[in-house]
Amino acid sequence: SAAGDNTKKDHPLWSSRMAFILAASGSAVGLGNIWKFPYITGENGGGAFVLVYLLCIALIGIPIMIAEVMIGRRGGSSPINSMRQLAQRDGLSKRWIWIGGMGMLASFLILSFYSVIGGWALSYVGNSAGGLFVGSDTETIGAMFGNLLADPYTLLLWHSVFMVLVIMIVARGLSSGMEKAINILMPVLFALLLVMVGYAMSTDNFADGFKFLFQPDFSKLTTEGVLTALGHAFFTLSLGMGVMMAYGSYLPKNVSIVKTAVTVSVVDTVVALLAGLAIFPLVFANGLEAGAGPGLIFQTLPLAFGQMSGGVLFGTLFFILLVVAAVTSAISLLEPVVEWFEEQKGISRLTGTLIAGFCVWGLGILTVLSLNLWSDVHPLSMFERFAGKTFFDLFDYFTANLIMPLGGLLISLFVGWFMSKQAGENELSIGNKLAYKAFMFVLRFITPAAVMVVFIYNLA
Ligand code: PFF
Ligand code: NA
Repeated sequence: SAAGDNTKKDHPLWSSRMAFILAASGSAVGLGNIWKFPYITGENGGGAFVLVYLLCIALIGIPIMIAEVMIGRRGGSSPINSMRQLAQRDGLSKRWIWIGGMGMLASFLILSFYSVIGGWALSYVGNSAGGLFVGSDTETIGAMFGNLLADPYTLLLWHSVFMVLVIMIVARGLSSGMEKAINILMPVLFALLLVMVGYAMSTDNFADGFKFLFQPDFSKLTTEGVLTALGHAFFTLSLGMGVMMAYGSYLPKNVSIVKTAVTVSVVDTVVALLAGLAIFPLVFANGLEAGAGPGLIFQTLPLAFGQMSGGVLFGTLFFILLVVAAVTSAISLLEPVVEWFEEQKGISRLTGTLIAGFCVWGLGILTVLSLNLWSDVHPLSMFERFAGKTFFDLFDYFTANLIMPLGGLLISLFVGWFMSKQAGENELSIGNKLAYKAFMFVLRFITPAAVMVVFIYNLA
């Protein structure tokens, strides 16, 4: 990729605006859209939750994504060092670098369980290709999933395969590894989701699924649900932990950050809604439970693949693409840490990737065990809020519901109140003064207030 003059030498850049959009979409679109969004929507009663989630994306997610990419491009290095640079330039406290440090910690935790779920998808590639879905019913499909979770060795195997894939790509570096794969596979994923929505339309329950997603029933919305929606907005857009900063550090100067961030957010949201439209009609058509939890897509989609013509092919393709979507997100979780390692003298990209990857892999074993042998181990049960939560549940809860929103809050405070105004105007080059003012207003007041209100409600 071309070296621009806006960053230090040896720091490569994305080859084009499109390449960045694809990579950032690759980070955003992942298990969060296809696995997590449908199951938390099911658990939180549908429409009202979806509405809150969409509001969080528009009002909080997009402005923070803009802020994060901007910090990254201006700093031109890993999250910690970009924050260090920007704080230095404007004569601010060194403590701001903790935004980067906190994000790296969160990305370790997320990747450790993300990889285990990616492993589920890997094992379902085999199940589909082997024809195991054909002619199956709710019970056999349920048993298939149950058996997978009950077996720590199989889970560990697929978790390991997934991590090896991620390590191999990250070790090869930015353009040769990441750009190419994402370029081809994102559009195919999109097309396949459309096929699945088409299938869902052919069932008698498409309208039920549609209503479940889009007809708000506020009596079903809890404060916990609002926190979940906010947390998921961060999770799904890969925000609040420096990933978009790291990707922004590779962004050429002439690219519009605002347009890019909006595009990425829209793509991510559309994929999540398509996944919901594909899955909920099947839930109702087969008399399944919308609130079934993390196994939802692994218990609904295989039924569809088992019944439709060409289901073996479509099913196999679908789970391959799910793996790909997961891998492109996982890459982005490892990248900031590796970029930081590279900046330390004497650590090569390969070594950095291996060290970081190995630590994450080891941490993932806690999630593997949470699903079976340690399903009764609840490390924080002395706190009522965390009663009954396994390691896996806690990693998920802490990252999505606490660390990411907190990171987002700090990022918006930094850009809204502390960073020099000149910097923001230069980076964003929003010609329209009013639009720029509106954006700053959101970052200064709306975003911090919203995150804080949700936090306080939940702690109270
Ligand atoms: N955005 C990804 C998804 O929706 O699957 C998950 C993710 C990637 C979260 C990168 C956070 C992150 F930094
Ligand atoms: Na996402």
